[in-house]
Amino acid sequence: MNKIEEAKKAMEKAYVPYSKFKVGAAIEMTDGTFIHGANIENASYPLGNCAERSALFSAYSQGYKKEDIKSITIIANSDKAISPCGACRQVMYELIPKNTKITLTNLEGDIKETTIDELLPYGFDLDHD
Ligand code: THU
Repeated sequence: MNKIEEAKKAMEKAYVPYSKFKVGAAIEMTDGTFIHGANIENASYPLGNCAERSALFSAYSQGYKKEDIKSITIIANSDKAISPCGACRQVMYELIPKNTKITLTNLEGDIKETTIDELLPYGFDLDHD
């Protein structure tokens, strides 16, 4: 399965009773494995988690490290290619390598290829002092 198909599979796992807006993220690891993440909402709205963070936290929880990450593909049923929220950009900034290929897409096939430095210029990280 290619990375966009993987992201679509991730999207099917979304739990979105409130927004009804499904988002999927597929992280491609250097060993060829794909880790899926979906957005998981909650009746206490701010506690919901975005697809990108679900996928990244899952990858790390399974023992993968930053340097094991090769690409991230994010998909939603949006008018334009999905755009990650600010919180997810900050989390990606710390947890993925700078050269990770980030693909933003939608079900219409609109595609943007980008990087974390493009999504979050002048990001805040471990070297903040
Ligand atoms: N959402 C994501 O999962 N990722 C994004 O990149 C944008 C927004 C989710 C959060 C919430 O469950 C729903 O989309 C509507 O904002």
